[in-house]
Amino acid sequence: MNSKPTAHSSQLTAQSSKLTLAIPSGERSKAFALRTLRQAGLEIPELEDSRSLRFEFPDVTLLLVKDPDVPVYVDVGVADCGVVGKDWILESGRDNYEPVDLGGNQYRFSLITLAQEKPRIERVATKYPRATRDFLQKLGMAADVIPLNGKIELAALTGLADAIVDIVETGRTLKENGLIEKQVLLELSTRFIVNRAALKLKAQRLRNFIHALENNAKS
Ligand code: PRP
Repeated sequence: MNSKPTAHSSQLTAQSSKLTLAIPSGERSKAFALRTLRQAGLEIPELEDSRSLRFEFPDVTLLLVKDPDVPVYVDVGVADCGVVGKDWILESGRDNYEPVDLGGNQYRFSLITLAQEKPRIERVATKYPRATRDFLQKLGMAADVIPLNGKIELAALTGLADAIVDIVETGRTLKENGLIEKQVLLELSTRFIVNRAALKLKAQRLRNFIHALENNAKS
């Protein structure tokens, strides 16, 4: 039997190992993701300044999605892999393979209160309700979790909540709002995540790419 690849079959092989990647659409996280992916050898041209959300290149399809949605796109297999913060991986509760810590900006999950702390913490506001419930359980704190969508510090300032669980990066937001970091809950960074079925179907391509990302993360 002739096993020599035909032009058609090699085209199919190239096509089947083309990667679809979900990356965060926010400017700072997007810039970090693109830089990291390019350094690891993905051929991604400059993205035009537009409202487009999907970019097709010969080597890769890029999907620009909201941070919390990256683990979802990867878990359902619409994307083979993605770049996203550990905070959103935890919050998603999705079972993606998470092979590489890409580093990037270091930040952390913290329990935050007013400088004049309330005697009892009964309500905790956050944009990470799942992760917060887990943290509170581990701390043995029986507080209600109030899910909000952003600007969480305001919940502590206004008394909507007695404390908040949020990410702290530079600490500037806390400082400028007179809040204190009562307890660091977990150190965080940006990760590369992979859909478990894609890891089998596109094994060679993904394993090579993971290897390149690991080498870059070390250097
Ligand atoms: C994040 C986070 C804090 C702030 C921390 O908010 O929720 O508010 O950054 O950063 P810092 O320690 O460097 O000040 P983001 O900018 O994502 O806005 P959001 O609150 O609207 O989600």
